[in-house]
Amino acid sequence: MFICQKCKSKYVKQSGKCFNCNEWNTIVPDSPVIVVNDSAQKILNNKIKEFERVLVLHTKSVVLIGGEPGIGKSTLMCQLACNIDGKCLYLCGEEYSGTVKTRITRVNGKIPENLIVVDCVFFENVETLLGQHKPDCVILDSIHTMRTESNDSSKDILMDIIDLSRRYNFCCILISHITKDGIIAGPKTLEHMVDAVLYLEGDRYANTRCLKSIKNRFGPTGETGIFQMEANGLVEVSNPSVLFLSNRRASVAGSVIFPFYGGARTYLVEIQSLVVESQFFNVETVGVESKRVNMIIAILYRWCKVNFYKYNICINAVGGVKISDPAADLAIAAALLSSLWKKPVDSKICFFGELGLTGEIRAVQGEDARIFESKRMGFHTIYANFNKEAHASSAQVKKITDIDELTKILN
Ligand code: TYD
Ligand code: MG
Repeated sequence: MFICQKCKSKYVKQSGKCFNCNEWNTIVPDSPVIVVNDSAQKILNNKIKEFERVLVLHTKSVVLIGGEPGIGKSTLMCQLACNIDGKCLYLCGEEYSGTVKTRITRVNGKIPENLIVVDCVFFENVETLLGQHKPDCVILDSIHTMRTESNDSSKDILMDIIDLSRRYNFCCILISHITKDGIIAGPKTLEHMVDAVLYLEGDRYANTRCLKSIKNRFGPTGETGIFQMEANGLVEVSNPSVLFLSNRRASVAGSVIFPFYGGARTYLVEIQSLVVESQFFNVETVGVESKRVNMIIAILYRWCKVNFYKYNICINAVGGVKISDPAADLAIAAALLSSLWKKPVDSKICFFGELGLTGEIRAVQGEDARIFESKRMGFHTIYANFNKEAHASSAQVKKITDIDELTKILN
């Protein structure tokens, strides 16, 4: 780390001129780098399998976790802290440490010996705490409540945290706020600087919570960890298809099942549609993108001559899941037609495939996993376009390549 002696700006590289105060030759190396714990980077196992699915924690790394207020970030981190294979330091900035301790006792029964919970809002105190406790994992709740004497920006604080995590050999998890648009608050560089970015999502008023990674330097992204918020914290959901289909009404118009593919796991989700006559055309969606639904409506109008423009349309992905998978197009189209025509779709039929603007149904990634999970859950017919010829010989899988064929199936 390098620092300007005049204005105290920090730089990662040596530079002749300070870009903040425009002075020349004022940038000097910050206090010499002292490596306190030079042992090699190691994996920190934890017993929460739904978390490990998404991210394997490593020392000398920094992770950001974001999500809506009240979604359960602190709860998840308290549970993680209790189940980590190593010493954990929980730094409370947002809530009083007493409150956090009460919560830990509630969700875990007791505060484990290897977990230390302290109040900390001044960054200057962090290094002292690190020297005192020598943790393997540090949870900072949250990065936005951390202050320095010189009022550094969150980017500067993060740069110092990254430096500390390497020198003291620990994994740092930073809880972060999100903006109105649902992205990590603060400059985008925060996401560039860290090793992994996780989001905890779900409907605050429903129980299901999904943990996803959008960046992961240690493994693939796209995997989803699924939990349910209960009275004693978050409970892992190991068989999501069962959960998402649990309250489903059999064979009602507007309900269609879609095999959702997320990384190494696929599960079935119910997509519901309600199409009611209205003077104005309107589309409301929960869990799927309204842009995508508008596109599907335009495709149905152009290629199947089905007019949705005199209707008010609601689409819901049941259970608080957020689907941004284009393979849901076919299921959404089927749900729309089913509701419009008041024709139920057999409850053991499912659909997946991406719709093209020219009315074609395209094959999508994860076809093997989607077909496997649908069969496992007892579905007798799976309508999809697929690449592998092997699926053509399967009795349950029916190839569908054109949107026109969908109207024939449902009619
Ligand atoms: P919290 O972890 O504080 O959310 P965040 O840190 O993301 O703001 O969780 C907030 C909500 O979770 C709280 O309003 C109630 C609910 N909750 C439960 O239902 N059960 C529990 O055991 C806990 C701890 C929280
Ligand atoms: Mg919180």
